[in-house]
Amino acid sequence: MELDVILTHQSLPKNFEGAVCAVVDVLRATTTIITALANGASEVQPCIDAEEARQKARGTSDKPFLLGGEIKGLRVPGFDLGNSPVEYLDSSLISGKVIYFSTTNGTSAIRRAYIGSHNPVYIAALVNLSAVSSALLKATTDNSASTILLLCAGRRGGPSLEDLFCNGLILQKLIQELNQAGIPHKLHDGAAIAMEFSSLKKGQPLDVLKATEPGQGLQELGFADDLELASQIDKYQTVPIFDGTKITAA
Ligand code: MLT
Repeated sequence: MELDVILTHQSLPKNFEGAVCAVVDVLRATTTIITALANGASEVQPCIDAEEARQKARGTSDKPFLLGGEIKGLRVPGFDLGNSPVEYLDSSLISGKVIYFSTTNGTSAIRRAYIGSHNPVYIAALVNLSAVSSALLKATTDNSASTILLLCAGRRGGPSLEDLFCNGLILQKLIQELNQAGIPHKLHDGAAIAMEFSSLKKGQPLDVLKATEPGQGLQELGFADDLELASQIDKYQTVPIFDGTKITAA
């Protein structure tokens, strides 16, 4: 089994058809999507920008929906919700709703991953670490895939430490399970870097999130609670999957 971590979605190979792929944006898009589905949202549609989200919502006649997302970290003007996972904890508001969701990095990364892999894309974060790791392994076995590609959404085209950290922890789980099953693996360099970093910082998820650039920016904007939530390893068993149109809980 080949394991790789891609540091930014802009550096994804053009085509990686057949690989099983997961996207991580711990702060905050994938944490928020997992939280929304865990609290009863019927689906999340990742949109490239706010205008696409509005357009899709206008085309919806029969399903209750909410518009969610951020620009520069703050709720898009006129949207029902921002990109703060704590806003998606209220199941009386979220349950049964389609969320048209647009963020700066995360939603584009998810769309890009599907275009390259032509396979369902897994949505991962610290909050569903173990559940998503098991689902990735099952998908590789079911589809006879030989590669797992973990994608960091990154930030403004650059890497982000919290996504690297999360992917390193996912790799640790994957390798443990591969070893137990007697399946050999090969780590590419991106994966080796993620493993090294996550080993150094294991057990300190909140400290890692607080120290990153996005983490500091979010604290300055008043979103310290988001970091607390995003750092809770295995808070949820929910494994969201993007089928090219919508993200639903597996
Ligand atoms: C993104 O997708 O760019 C981030 O989740 C931004 C944010 O944290 O608001």
